[in-house]
Amino acid sequence: MKITVIGAGYVGLVTAACLADVGHQVLCAKKSKKKFEMLKKGISPIYEPGLSEMLRRNLDENRIDFTTDMEEAINFSEAIFICVGTPTTPEGEADLSQVEDVVSSISKYMDDYKLIIEKSTVPVNTHLKIREMVREKTDIDFDVASNPEFLAEGTSVYNFMNPHRIVVGVDTPRARKIFEEIYQPFTTKGFPLLITDIPSAEIIKYASNAFLAMKISYINMISDLCEKTGASIDDVSQGVGLDHRIGSKFLNAGLGYGGSCLPKDVTALIHTYKEHDLDTGLLQETEKINQKRKDIFYQQVEENLDDMEGKVITLWGLAFKPNTDDIRAAPAIDIVRKLQDAGAMVKLYDPKAEENFQRIIPENENITYFDDKYDALKDSSALLLVTEWDEFKESDVDRIKELMESPTIIDGRNIMDRDLMMDKGFRYVSMGR
Ligand code: UDX
Repeated sequence: MKITVIGAGYVGLVTAACLADVGHQVLCAKKSKKKFEMLKKGISPIYEPGLSEMLRRNLDENRIDFTTDMEEAINFSEAIFICVGTPTTPEGEADLSQVEDVVSSISKYMDDYKLIIEKSTVPVNTHLKIREMVREKTDIDFDVASNPEFLAEGTSVYNFMNPHRIVVGVDTPRARKIFEEIYQPFTTKGFPLLITDIPSAEIIKYASNAFLAMKISYINMISDLCEKTGASIDDVSQGVGLDHRIGSKFLNAGLGYGGSCLPKDVTALIHTYKEHDLDTGLLQETEKINQKRKDIFYQQVEENLDDMEGKVITLWGLAFKPNTDDIRAAPAIDIVRKLQDAGAMVKLYDPKAEENFQRIIPENENITYFDDKYDALKDSSALLLVTEWDEFKESDVDRIKELMESPTIIDGRNIMDRDLMMDKGFRYVSMGR
């Protein structure tokens, strides 16, 4: 089946590549000429495990192509996935301007029936606005539908190919039939397709992400109690998570959630609740606890280092989570800025996210980036662990100790073995244990 995907970011490119990989014919539209050239050559502009290989395979087999021409993209197929960004406005609302731009192009260029699919995360009842916008411009028949994505960066390709559920919000039999055809390669393998009305599908996305955020903030709140009472958050998380009704995932305490989805979606949901005069208490508390995590961590740094002026401090982990180069709402941003303001000499290392991080915090006399995590440790008074990359967990602790001026580790993700670090003679501080 022919499919159009508009946008080639973390969601668009994964959606396009995976739909091609299951046998569809996909045309993906990307505005930026530079990225378009890269994509045509099979180079992914983002780091996502498995994506480049999948992209090249489907380019070779002519199942995927790219264009910068919106008219061509829109009339390539009847199913158009909108996969553009919906960042947060200063007021906390979801900024729908990129979605509106796409919808305006669709209504301008469409020459036949179209199924306009919201894949980007949009507030409940955005489909009504989209419908109104298109109606105003054309008499040609169309449907609007919601098909939220549940792709976690670092495992997006796997998540798309092995979904817990595929959620589709439709209000016509025609739209439903198109989705059944698009997702047939998944439903035949037994992956569940949940078909709902459109507002429900729109809400499912926000409700899921806000729940995950709440779960993280909840365990972080419990972690504060562990800290005060001598309990260990590792044991508590394990004990709580063994209850199948609760589940063990998303119970890792530490620096809290970052990224392009959880923070943005909680904020946007609060805004929607306010618009409907509903109580926002639980959501606001989730956000407040998350914000405080970085302050608590930084306090630990201050308490353990006294004066930071001129001290060498090493930070491992710039990405908001492992296996991605994405630094949006990454806790490292606030932490590095604070260290810089305190006059520290900051040495930074991340396996994938340094290039993106340098765009926000460029190298200068106080900030140095390293290609090797051990090189970044020389003469350091403290190592701050900020992202839970596996390669940090597997570090040679004797070597770390040898390289540092004073062996202090402040572990914001609880990734090191606490007893081992104590045995090795580190001053080791973690969160809630
Ligand atoms: C999230 C959702 O998981 C995904 O389904 C949705 O489609 C997009 O948003 P993502 O933002 O890629 O995915 O990352 P996620 O794995 O949810 O992690 C978000 C943040 O929470 C990261 O900063 C991570 O470090 C943190 N986290 C996660 C914790 O602090 N503790 C945990 O137990 C789990």
